Amino acid sequence: MNKSPIEQRPSLTSMPIWKALEVHYEKVQPIHLRQLFADDPKRGEKYTAEAAGLYLDYSKNRITDETIPLLIQLAEACGLRQRIHAMFSGEKINTTEQRAVLHTALRAPKGKKILVDGADVVPEVHAVLEQMEAFAHKVRRGEWRGYTGKPIRNIVNIGIGGSDLGPVMAYEALRFYSQRNMTFRFISNVDGTDFAEATRDLNPEETLFIICSKTFTTLETLANAGYARTWCLNALGDAKAVRNHFVAISTNAKEVAKFGIDTENMFGFWDWVGGRYSMDSAIGLSTMIAIGPKGFRDLLKGFYAMDEHFRTAPFEKNLPVLMGLLTVWYTNFFAADTTAVLPYDQYLKRFPAYLQQLTMESNGKHVTLDGVNVDYQTSPIYWGEPGTNGQHSFYQLIHQGTKLVPCDFIGFYKTLNSVGSQHAMLMANFFAQTEALAFGKTEEEVKADGTAAWLAPHRVFEGNRPTNTILAEKLTPKVLGSLIALYEHSVYTQGVIWNIDSFDQWGVELGKVLAKRMIPELENTNEPVLKHDSSTNTLIRKYRKSNL
Ligand code: F6P
Repeated sequence: MNKSPIEQRPSLTSMPIWKALEVHYEKVQPIHLRQLFADDPKRGEKYTAEAAGLYLDYSKNRITDETIPLLIQLAEACGLRQRIHAMFSGEKINTTEQRAVLHTALRAPKGKKILVDGADVVPEVHAVLEQMEAFAHKVRRGEWRGYTGKPIRNIVNIGIGGSDLGPVMAYEALRFYSQRNMTFRFISNVDGTDFAEATRDLNPEETLFIICSKTFTTLETLANAGYARTWCLNALGDAKAVRNHFVAISTNAKEVAKFGIDTENMFGFWDWVGGRYSMDSAIGLSTMIAIGPKGFRDLLKGFYAMDEHFRTAPFEKNLPVLMGLLTVWYTNFFAADTTAVLPYDQYLKRFPAYLQQLTMESNGKHVTLDGVNVDYQTSPIYWGEPGTNGQHSFYQLIHQGTKLVPCDFIGFYKTLNSVGSQHAMLMANFFAQTEALAFGKTEEEVKADGTAAWLAPHRVFEGNRPTNTILAEKLTPKVLGSLIALYEHSVYTQGVIWNIDSFDQWGVELGKVLAKRMIPELENTNEPVLKHDSSTNTLIRKYRKSNL
């Protein structure tokens, strides 16, 4: 059997430091956060770190003075330092696909040198950025015209997964800075409803489709792109209109040309950018058109600031390392299955959805780099909604349920939209929630409020529920870049500890193959021989009966 190019390492759970953490967990588990705060009045200042415009308070975690040093020893034993270096220097750390992992090169300033197979990739990155900028300026200034001569007013991004979640999240997050006389829409689902609703009020003469697909072979995207062409040409009546109304973002020029988009209207990227790490590549063209090239450059600056912090800061002050190690702490020692991400900013409403792909497609793996089944848990399930909405929905479970749900609270000192005194209300809720989760309310306190004895148990808050607090001055493109890079590198930190390939996604293949095979079984007028299990066969027959 061929050996994986990454050096074999001892199994995680057999490492002495892992055993030491198991022993440490037994000591920490019974301690309440009330106790930890009472014992150390400076805890809320001590367990903090700051970088790239972000302030992290991790004091409301179930850790003692020994925990982070032990977790850092674990990181060292797992070779995190070397692995960070390997990623930034373009080593092929995506071993199962034999690729470098260089989303960090997308935000490297001009003049930096990053080699892939001996060639410096930074000049190419900047060449594409300049191509994007020239195009974005033309569209924003109304110089890029539709086929009938009208300026483009509507941008429709067609893509799925990393070719959608990043662009739509960034557009929503940075909407405050967006060109308000333009409309931005995002179509991802192969469900025709997505296309129909996104385009129903748009004039094809003023609409530009950005077809985003790293591979340009993704079924959903090609179906939607094909239909977009029909929609456009039905109105404009000439195949030549495709030139004015379609651009492509891809690594696959051959497929782009095959689809009928002139490769002159294509913006490239590279196989060393993973789909879920690509929103700051040309995949971010819709973002750049929305917020302008200067805003996009600021976004990249935020990413870069966090990259440099991750690459150089000591682990005990390193935000992504701390957050990554805390996730390991809860996942593997406290057996927490999920992490909630709770942005207290309406503009970040798609941030949890974006993080779901980033975290779970990266670290939802069950074999190590050497192909051995893990004997420990890997990625938690990420989920969340903006505050305060979530408070009136699922927070009940976080406060009083039987599951431990570590939460990341994300907020801003300043609002972008000052509406009465609502920002103070929002942030009062933000701070109050982390306080309530940590400290809870004892039965004595509940009774002291005059609650009847029979009702008191229902009104008790156990507390001791861990949270991270992430704060920044205000939501800007730069801060958004730092925030995304924070999570990207936290995910990598977790993946290194778990010894998995955080950059492949073989788990999405099987469903895709089966679906492709099944399409004719749903569409053919003569019933094909169905060779599935009895459940699937029956379901297909029921569908056929309704449709054919
Ligand atoms: O199905 C998973 C996936 O491969 C993601 O990793 C990717 O972001 C998405 O599909 C879209 O792929 P593409 O950009 O090649 O269309």
